[in-house]
Amino acid sequence: MKGKVLLVALLITLASVAGAATIKVAAVVPYTGGIASFGQMAWQGVEIAHEMKSSVLGYDVELVLIDNRSDKVEAANAVARAIDYEKVVGIIGEIASSHSLAGGAIAEKKGVPMISPTSTNPLVTQGKKFVNRACFIDPYQGAAMAEFAFKELGVRSVAVFTDIEQDYSVGLSAFFRASFKKLGGSAFNEFYRTGDQDFTAQLTDVLNKNPDAIYITGYYPEIALICRQARDLGYEGLFLTGDGSDAPELIEIGGEAVEGLYFTTHYHPDGTTTKIGQEFLKRFREKYGKDPSAFAALGFDAYMILLDAIERAGKPDPKKIAEEIRKTKDFEGASGIITIGPDGNAMKPVVIDTVKEGAFHYVTSIIPETL
Ligand code: PHE
Repeated sequence: MKGKVLLVALLITLASVAGAATIKVAAVVPYTGGIASFGQMAWQGVEIAHEMKSSVLGYDVELVLIDNRSDKVEAANAVARAIDYEKVVGIIGEIASSHSLAGGAIAEKKGVPMISPTSTNPLVTQGKKFVNRACFIDPYQGAAMAEFAFKELGVRSVAVFTDIEQDYSVGLSAFFRASFKKLGGSAFNEFYRTGDQDFTAQLTDVLNKNPDAIYITGYYPEIALICRQARDLGYEGLFLTGDGSDAPELIEIGGEAVEGLYFTTHYHPDGTTTKIGQEFLKRFREKYGKDPSAFAALGFDAYMILLDAIERAGKPDPKKIAEEIRKTKDFEGASGIITIGPDGNAMKPVVIDTVKEGAFHYVTSIIPETL
């Protein structure tokens, strides 16, 4: 009897030492499956952010990782689980646009704010109050590559490869073409699907038409294969891509074939402009022994933006937090200075990287004009 009382007393003490009040935040990412690499990188960034800031308004922030397994249906289930079961006040996620579209519909219905680190398709936030992002959108990304290719690389004709299964790819291809044509360039289409292995038919057509560049808007597994097969078939032109290339696996799978490839992305350590960006870089290198990718930097930023909004909301009320997210102004993130508009989108420069000697190199940052 006496023992039991003691135990109860001890538990209470522990609870008060740890800080009784806790709020939960979820990161919903593809931690396994086809695009696991992107989800894991984003999670690493979120973890660093949580280490740096783990309490807000006197609450301890408990961070939960929920894996959407790189699957659209799971992407919706994962958000429902975060809200109904974990009772989170905000969600960082998701990563791929198609997943954020599926998960975002649930978050919107249930009235809990979401900040996607990297989903760039315009539809992700369109018509929504609770879904936001820490990155630019694809009309912007497509225009940036169109301008860079046309003005800096002298490219005049492009074969555009679209993964018709990915909202991200379909959108980005269309936006690129619109901007590239406005500049006076010409483009033609080639299509494929996620998981395809053989691109001989499309590449044979490309070789016949002989464009200056191939622009591929999908994700790294297919991008790497397309580049390899193109070189094997004798293609000598340029490769251009979007942020779907920003994973070390691009180089691991693509090898020599991806040397000289240019891609648009959100961040490169060498382009760091903020103090918090330096701090993030230092901590990331210490913890993981490598450089952070754009996905890590934006995972970090999405968490920090959410905490900042919670702070300004003054209480952990999801609706109030959602309103505050859209008032984020000149926020110092790892990826630069971030302002989120009333439409839930962030406005920031586009980074151009290239692959040189088996590594990603920072080329430049641009604010596109041909929108
Ligand atoms: N911008 C891409 C998207 O919206 C981000 C991404 C790239 C996600 C590659 C996963 C893999 O889908």
